[in-house]
Amino acid sequence: MEKKKVIVTERIADEGIEMLRTVVDVDYRDDITREELLKVIGNYDALIVRSVTKVNEELISAGQPRLRVVGRAGTGVDNIDVEVSTRYGVIVANTPDSNTISAAEQTISLLLSSARFTAEASVFLKGGNWDRKPFRGAELYGKTVGIVGLGRIGSSVAVRLKSFNMRVIAYDPYITDERFERFGVEKMETLEQLMREADFVTVHTPRNEETMHMINEEMFGLAKDGVRVVNCARGGIIKEAALVEGLTSGKVASAGLDVFEKEPANENPLFRFKNVVVTPHLGADTHEAQKRVGVNIAEQVINALKGEIVPNMVNLPTMLSEELDYLRPYITLAERMGEMYYQLEKAPVSQVELTYSGPITMNETTVLTVAFLKGLLEPIMEGRVNYVNAKLVAEERGIKVFERKEDQTNKRYKNLISAHIFNHGHQFKCSGTVSRAHDPLLVELNGYETETNLEGFVLVVKNEDRPRVIGPFATALGDAGINIASMKSSRQTKGAEALMMVNVDSRVEEGVLDTLAKLDGILDKPRLVSFV
Ligand code: NAD
Ligand code: MLT
Repeated sequence: MEKKKVIVTERIADEGIEMLRTVVDVDYRDDITREELLKVIGNYDALIVRSVTKVNEELISAGQPRLRVVGRAGTGVDNIDVEVSTRYGVIVANTPDSNTISAAEQTISLLLSSARFTAEASVFLKGGNWDRKPFRGAELYGKTVGIVGLGRIGSSVAVRLKSFNMRVIAYDPYITDERFERFGVEKMETLEQLMREADFVTVHTPRNEETMHMINEEMFGLAKDGVRVVNCARGGIIKEAALVEGLTSGKVASAGLDVFEKEPANENPLFRFKNVVVTPHLGADTHEAQKRVGVNIAEQVINALKGEIVPNMVNLPTMLSEELDYLRPYITLAERMGEMYYQLEKAPVSQVELTYSGPITMNETTVLTVAFLKGLLEPIMEGRVNYVNAKLVAEERGIKVFERKEDQTNKRYKNLISAHIFNHGHQFKCSGTVSRAHDPLLVELNGYETETNLEGFVLVVKNEDRPRVIGPFATALGDAGINIASMKSSRQTKGAEALMMVNVDSRVEEGVLDTLAKLDGILDKPRLVSFV
């Protein structure tokens, strides 16, 4: 089989490139122009970028039909149109944990160096000037720092600044009170409250419509005179024009900036202020972080290209690796349950209800729902359906999807996934669990109990519940050279209809299915479900 091809358009660590090269063909083109990239992107299965390459509809559509994965070697995905990627079924994965420490340390560095004029004094001294007067700074000790966004980096900054004996306050309306308590941070109910109380303000939110220019003229108006600010998140969260105004009037005593509204920022009005320390987006630029980021993105892109769910798919809920490892057999189970439907039924679907029962509900079950929908739709879709777009595709086909959680199962299994599919006037039901050997196990089909491995080939047979039916059926399969791996028969009422589910070792051809259908006591043509 032809090797998958990956293009890397920005600098990532050698360790990551080496890991990719063991599995895929890699073109490392950190010098590529936009025009050239647009011309060649269609020859690649995956694209790896950092924050400069704009992954918008123009680029994603130019990559079709081949481009399947975009790897963001870093955290922020504001250079990637995730909605458009999802629409095209393109997986976007990033590496949010890999550079947290480096970004937090860079924040502290900017905070200290802007409060102490470190960079400016260094340039001054190297120019042959020994003078302390212009550089009298401020201590952190006993001051209040306001953190906007108490996520990964914000909380790491909080922990570090507490050791400077600072009072740490934060504004983040999207996290629980427990998280504030865990980091020993005082919760501010509004940004205004934070701005009034802080001596130092540092921002750590993503950049989006809500956060763009959130620290603006009005917010500076509320701040203490001589407030000091740091932005090591994304350019524009602190409005640059308002910051220029604040620095000019003296309202703002200093600023430390790693990021800018327009990058690369070869010139910027903020560069003229002596009390502003600037760095060219270096937050994640340490050897340690880049090695972690490079290896992490290589691993995720390789696995995503194999069709696997990876921990940091931006267009799916993110999960810790351990949670994903736990869920993996359930993902397979949900997908296989979905795959069964159109192989057994020739009727359209109008509604899908999925019920998750047992301790599994403590996890992110959305991923199970998308796996089920992928399994359901993949066999009948001309275009591509995958984990990231399965929900969208279902929606576009008018399928209503409902998800329910129950703490406990009503059966003997610890965890259970139950699917109820409706089409006008007809219903289809099945339930499954994961066996001790971590295999996907169907435990119920349309009211018939079973324990059937959803693997390889499974024959589903309706028969009369009486002697001399199963034996001749098994013999006929043997005569056709088909080996039975396992068989489960179940009935709802003694002597009425029964359902046989037979795991066989090879595909059963149509002719053989016709012969089996004619056997005495077999009620209709056996159906073959394939998971191969
Ligand atoms: P995160 O997702 O862990 O945390 C972001 C936090 O911001 C969340 O807790 C969220 O609830 C909060 N938030 C969102 N909207 C908010 C709002 N309107 N008001 C207040 N809080 C809000 O992200 P992270 O990994 O901590 O990254 C933070 C930022 O740092 C991102 O913008 C990321 O791109 C950037 N970053 C920059 C560098 C760099 O090189 N300078 C490196 C890594 C990350
Ligand atoms: C990030 O979001 O991870 C940073 O901007 C760092 C980077 O792009 O390398």
